[in-house]
Amino acid sequence: MPIHFNEETKEFHLQNNGLSYIFTVMKNNQLGHLYYGKRIRHRDSFQHLLRTQPRAAMSCVYEGDLTFSLDIIKQEYPSYGTTDYREPAFQITQQNGSRITHFEYVSHEIYSGKPKLDGLPATYTEEESEASTIEVVLEDKLIETAVKLYYTVYENRNVITRSARFINKGSQKLELNRALSSSVDLFDADFEMVQLSGSWSRERHVKTRALAPGIQSISSTRGTSSSQQNPFIALKRPGTDEHQGEVYGFNFVYSGNFLAQVEVDHYDVARVTMGINPFDFRWLLEPGEDFQTPEVVMVYSEDGLNGMSQTYHDLYSQRLVRGKWKNSERPVLINNWEATYFNFNEEKLLSIAKESKDLGIELFVLDDGWFGKRDDDTSSLGDWFTDKEKLPNGIEGIAEKVTDLGLSFGLWFEPEMVNKNSELYKAHPEWIIQVDGRKASHGRNQYVLDFSRKDVVDNLYGQMSDVLRKAPISYVKWDMNRYMTEIGSASLPSERQSELAHRYILGVYDLYERLTSEFPDVLFESCASGGCRFDPGMLYYAPQTWTSDDTDAVERLKIQYGTTMAYPLSTLGAHVSDVPNHQVHRYTSLSMRGNVSFFGMFGYELDITAMSEQEKEEVKQQVSFYKKHRQLIQNGVFHRLLSPFEGLGNRVAWMAVSRDKKEALAGYYKVLAEPNPGFKRLILKGLDENLEYKIEGMEGTYFGDELMSAGLMLENEYSGSVPPESDRIGDFQSSLYKLTAVE
Ligand code: DGJ
Repeated sequence: MPIHFNEETKEFHLQNNGLSYIFTVMKNNQLGHLYYGKRIRHRDSFQHLLRTQPRAAMSCVYEGDLTFSLDIIKQEYPSYGTTDYREPAFQITQQNGSRITHFEYVSHEIYSGKPKLDGLPATYTEEESEASTIEVVLEDKLIETAVKLYYTVYENRNVITRSARFINKGSQKLELNRALSSSVDLFDADFEMVQLSGSWSRERHVKTRALAPGIQSISSTRGTSSSQQNPFIALKRPGTDEHQGEVYGFNFVYSGNFLAQVEVDHYDVARVTMGINPFDFRWLLEPGEDFQTPEVVMVYSEDGLNGMSQTYHDLYSQRLVRGKWKNSERPVLINNWEATYFNFNEEKLLSIAKESKDLGIELFVLDDGWFGKRDDDTSSLGDWFTDKEKLPNGIEGIAEKVTDLGLSFGLWFEPEMVNKNSELYKAHPEWIIQVDGRKASHGRNQYVLDFSRKDVVDNLYGQMSDVLRKAPISYVKWDMNRYMTEIGSASLPSERQSELAHRYILGVYDLYERLTSEFPDVLFESCASGGCRFDPGMLYYAPQTWTSDDTDAVERLKIQYGTTMAYPLSTLGAHVSDVPNHQVHRYTSLSMRGNVSFFGMFGYELDITAMSEQEKEEVKQQVSFYKKHRQLIQNGVFHRLLSPFEGLGNRVAWMAVSRDKKEALAGYYKVLAEPNPGFKRLILKGLDENLEYKIEGMEGTYFGDELMSAGLMLENEYSGSVPPESDRIGDFQSSLYKLTAVE
C-alpha cells in the first residue's frame, strides 16, 4: 500500500518507487506540507521537516507563541487571512461578509483504486491495485462546511492526482470565490518555469523563464483552455534538459478558464497552485450543496523533460483516454476542408473519396458546410440537417456511397455554436450567451450557445444523435471556433451568473458523455479553430485533438514538439496539406510534410484529385509507410531529441521506440540550408544498448550503445560541388531513420 499513515504524528506519506509526497496535521489542526520529490525511505516521523521559528515582523497564531505562523509554514490547502499572506487555494464568503475560515482535520480514509469525479473528466484505474487514494476530511465548525481533499498515487507511475470537494452542511448560503484544485509549497524556488504559449496557428510553443520573487502565472479567461496558454506548467531545475534533471509537471484536466500560478514568497518557497480561474468565478453553495473541483495531474521526473512527458503520455493514453479507440489503430484520414472549403457537391466529395481509396486512405471526413444553408460562415450553425442542394441524398446518401467505396465516413459538427441566420436562433434567441440589454459580440459571425442550460444540451444531443443514428458515421470532428464574451445566461439567477463559464464546460462534458456512451464505436476528434482547446479534459471524451489549423511542415515542428510536452502522439491530429501552405504560404516538399505528419495521427487535408500522378504515387507510399509503422508511433515511447526552441532551432529531431525496443523511427529535420556546416550526428535515445540495429537505407549494423553515445552519423549536406538536380533540396530538409533490431 503506497500510502502510510502514522497515527501518532498524524503524518501521511504517499510513496511509490519513484516519488514521495508527505504532509501532516499541524498543531492548529490544519494540514502542513512536509515534502514532495524523489522517493525517500519511510520513517516514523518527518516532523523535523516542518520548520517554524520566531522571525521579526511575523504574525503569529497563538498568544505566547512566537514561532507558529502560517506565513512561514508550508501547507497543503492554504487559506488567506490567518497569518499567511500568500495567495490561497480557496476563499469562501459567508453570510456575515467574513472570508475567514479555519478548516481542521477531522478524519481520513485510505483505499485502493481511484474514485470518479461527478460530471468531470479524470484519470482512472482499471485495477484497484494500480493506485491508492486518500480522502482527507477537513471541517470548519463555525460555518459547518467540509472540504474533502483527494490524493491518488499510482503504484507504477510517478503521478499524483489531486482535487477538492466543498460540502455545505450548515444552514447559511456560502459563496466560493476561489476553489483551486491543488496547492503545493515547494521547499525552494530554484526552478525555471516551462509553459506552452501561443495563439491560433502557433499553439503550444515552449517558453521558459526563471522563477522570481512574486507571482508568475498563466491563465485563460476565454471560456476554453485556449491556445494562448495551455493548462500545463513544469518547474525544472536550472541545467535540467530533455534527458536529465529534476522536473515537476502540473497539468489541469479541464477545458475552461484556468489558473496555473507560482508564487515565490519572501523565504523562497514556491507555492504552485492550479485550478479553475478565480477571476470572474463565484459559486453559490446553498445548504446541502457541494462543489467538486476538476483534477490536477502532478508528475515528478528525475529524467528531464522527456521523463516527465513519457509519464504523462503513458498515463493519458492508458488511463485518461477511454473506449474502443484507446488501443485501436487510428485510421488514415482525408479531410475535405482545405480542398473545397464550403464549395462542394456530392460529386466532388465522391471524387476525392474514390481517389483516396485507391491510395490506401481509410476514412473520408466531410468538414464544415454540409448542413442548413451554409455556403459561407455567416449562417446555419445550429441547424444540423443536411443541405439538400449540396447533398441531395442527405448525409445518409453520401455516407453510404463513401462506405460502399470501402472507406469509413466521418462528419464535422460545431455543436456549441449558432449563427443568427439559423432556424435554431430564430426559435431560441435566448439560448445564446449574452447579457440582457448589452450588445453581444460575435466571432466568425457566430454566437456561443448557453451550454449551462439542460434544454440547450438536450436539443444538441437530439440533433446530433439523430444524424449519427441515420448514417454510417464512424468519426466525428467536434469543432469550437470562438471564445466567449459578455458571459451571461438568461436562465441563471443573478447570484449565479458567475458560475456560467464553469457550468458551460459541465454542459459540454455532459453532451460528450451522452454521445460517446451511445456511440461507443465512433472516433471523436476535438478541435477548436485547430488547437485552441487541446487539454486533458477533452481527451477523456475525444481520443484525438486537431493539433493546429497550421499545417505548414516547418511551423508544425514547433507546434508538435511543444504539444508533446504533456500529450502523447496518439492524441495529435497531423495532416499533410497543400502548398503553398494556406496559413503561411510556404512551399515545402511532400516528403517533408509527410515526415512531420507521420509523428501524429496521420491524414491529408488537400484536393487529392488535383495532384499529379507522381504525387499520388508518393502519397500511396506515405500511406503504406504510415500503416506499417502506426503501432510504433501510436504506442511507442516518444523522445524529443533536438528542439526548435533552443539555439537557432534550425535542426529538430524526435523519435519513437517500440516498447520492446526492437524497432524505432527517428525524424530529423533541417529548416534552412547552411553553407559548409561541420559534420553532424544524431544521438538517439531509448534503444537497448545491447541490441544490434539495422538502419533502413544504411550499410551495416550498429549497437544501441553506439547509437546512443557516438550517435548516428548524418550525411553531410554540403559538399561544394553541384549535385544532380534531384538532390538539390535546399531549405526544409527531412530524413527518417527506421531502425530494426537484428534477430
Ligand atoms: C476550424 C477547424 O480548425 C478547421 O479544421 C475547419 O474544420 C474549420 N474550422 C471549419 O469551419
